[in-house]
Amino acid sequence: MAKNNPLIVIITAFLVLSLMLSLVKAAPKNITTDQHALLALKDRIKYDPTNLLAKNWTTSSSICTWIGVTCGVRHHRVTGLNISNFGLAGTLPPQLGNLSSLRVLDLSVNQLSGTIPSSIFQISSLERLDLSYNQLSDSFPSIIFNLPSLQVIHFKSNSLSGGLPSHIFNYLPNLKMLHLSANMFDGQIPSTISKCQQLQILSLFNNNFTGYIPKEIGNLTMLKELYLADNKLQGEIPHELSNLVKLNVAVVALSLLLPPCSFEAVASPVFSGVWLEATNITTDQSSSLLAFKAHITNDPHNLLANYWTASTSVCNWVGITCDSQNNRVIVLNLTSMSLTSTIPLHIGNLSFLDQLHLRNNSFHGSLPVDIVHLRRLEILHLGYNTFQGEIPSWLGSAPCLNFKSCISFVTIYKYYPTFSRKYHNIKEPRIVE
Ligand SMILES: *[C@@H]1O[C@H](CO)[C@@H](O)[C@H](O)[C@H]1NC(C)=O
Ligand SMILES: *[C@@H]1O[C@H](CO)[C@@H](O)[C@H](O)[C@H]1NC(C)=O
Ligand SMILES: *[C@@H]1O[C@H](CO)[C@@H](O)[C@H](O)[C@H]1NC(C)=O
Ligand SMILES: *[C@@H]1O[C@H](CO)[C@@H](O)[C@H](O)[C@H]1NC(C)=O
Ligand SMILES: *[C@@H]1O[C@H](CO)[C@@H](O)[C@H](O)[C@H]1NC(C)=O
Ligand SMILES: *[C@@H]1O[C@H](CO)[C@@H](O)[C@H](O)[C@H]1NC(C)=O
Ligand SMILES: *[C@@H]1O[C@H](CO)[C@@H](O)[C@H](O)[C@H]1NC(C)=O
Ligand SMILES: *[C@@H]1O[C@H](CO)[C@@H](O)[C@H](O)[C@H]1NC(C)=O
Ligand SMILES: *[C@@H]1O[C@H](CO)[C@@H](O)[C@H](O)[C@H]1NC(C)=O
Ligand SMILES: *[C@@H]1O[C@H](CO)[C@@H](O)[C@H](O)[C@H]1NC(C)=O
Repeated sequence: MAKNNPLIVIITAFLVLSLMLSLVKAAPKNITTDQHALLALKDRIKYDPTNLLAKNWTTSSSICTWIGVTCGVRHHRVTGLNISNFGLAGTLPPQLGNLSSLRVLDLSVNQLSGTIPSSIFQISSLERLDLSYNQLSDSFPSIIFNLPSLQVIHFKSNSLSGGLPSHIFNYLPNLKMLHLSANMFDGQIPSTISKCQQLQILSLFNNNFTGYIPKEIGNLTMLKELYLADNKLQGEIPHELSNLVKLNVAVVALSLLLPPCSFEAVASPVFSGVWLEATNITTDQSSSLLAFKAHITNDPHNLLANYWTASTSVCNWVGITCDSQNNRVIVLNLTSMSLTSTIPLHIGNLSFLDQLHLRNNSFHGSLPVDIVHLRRLEILHLGYNTFQGEIPSWLGSAPCLNFKSCISFVTIYKYYPTFSRKYHNIKEPRIVE
């Protein structure tokens, strides 16, 4: 036996290495692997109202003929799984991660529960991942999401919770849409989100996010839609967001740190000299509201016609809430009353108003500058109307800094950026997710 023959040592080492590598690689994945993964999913489905999977996903036929399954022509692997809106209840098996050629995974609009298997976040071919409108729970797995092709993450309306690990955004270079709204996520919005340079839609509304809006969002130059409302965010809207020239929908709600509105805070030139102290609040209120009523051109349910009459106290009128001590009108809520009108200047006389809800009517025309008289205003809902014209500068970035202690919740279309003095349609975004 040749002792220490270098050639033999090298060959032996090579063979051992090859053997080890082949063991590590394990069985190569093929259509059989995909079948196992789909059968594992079928096995986890506990409720299938139309028996679709029970009848259709049978081993007697190729999985490529199964309903909801798409296979690649060349490689004969599963490239798409779409069982959206099948009414399925159950949980997701880890074997889904074995569908290693998957490009589209759409399990949306079912009643799937349990956790999202972390293996799904390792399907490197994945382009669209839609698990929205289910009952999935638990937090994001703290693994690296290395998904270079992924463009869409849609998890809206589940029960996902916990924080967003800051590293999950490191390797999602092609992410265009991130929908995490209507979940229970908390913690801060990671500033690493700015690494997703292709991001066009960032929807985080209706969660429990806290802290400040990261100014790095201003780096997402492709951003078109930004939804941050209904969280526990604080502070100011970062100036950097005005870099987002493509942004055309932004809904931002902040709970501001400042004390309640103080007149002194309103120091912008816009406000100087326009404030008139109401002298007779009782007459002013009813005459202002009756003037408003006179402006209404269509009131199909006769709500104002029947309930806004000079013979009853303003505080009993439909849509009106008064403070109990002074009978001052503090809320005007005309939501969804099918009213057609412009907003009359008289609105500015309701100087104790802290909420103005005009959402979902046919209000049109421009926003009267007199709204600045409403120095106590905290909530202004103007969505689902057809307002036009300039967005008053005091709703905007810089002047808003003076007004921020008054308005803490504004939902309007094109709220940001910069009120370029162009004509806008102001409406709440239809959720186009
Ligand atoms: C898939 O791979 C397994 C194990 O490597 C093998 O037994 C099986 O025959 C393969 N299936 C197909 C359809 O090639
Ligand atoms: C399953 O459904 C697909 C699509 O509807 C259909 O083409 C296929 O024939 C069905 N297979 C079985 C076994 O029912
Ligand atoms: C999945 O199928 C539904 C219903 O056919 C369709 O509306 C939806 O666009 C599909 N999802 C994807 C990601 O293609
Ligand atoms: C599929 O995934 C499961 C769980 O992730 C794993 O244990 C199994 O080895 C995988 N099967 C194949 C054939 O790759
Ligand atoms: C936010 O947190 C509070 C208290 O922890 C909880 O009661 C509430 O349900 C949470 N809301 C959402 C949308 O997660
Ligand atoms: C992202 O934004 C921060 C703060 O606005 C800035 O300092 C940084 O240079 C930006 N990074 C990139 C990659 O644009
Ligand atoms: C306010 O107007 C009402 C009705 O006109 C009148 O009765 C009342 O005296 C006025 N109050 C004051 C303080 O002027
Ligand atoms: C406003 O009115 C609508 C419709 O009646 C109602 O659903 C909503 O809760 C009201 N909002 C407030 C703040 O009173
Ligand atoms: C708007 O109001 C109409 C009529 O009251 C109602 O049917 C509709 O659901 C409302 N839409 C929204 C988005 O609130
Ligand atoms: C209310 O506002 C209008 C327009 O700003 C003004 O002309 C009027 O005198 C004010 N007072 C009443 C009681 O309407």
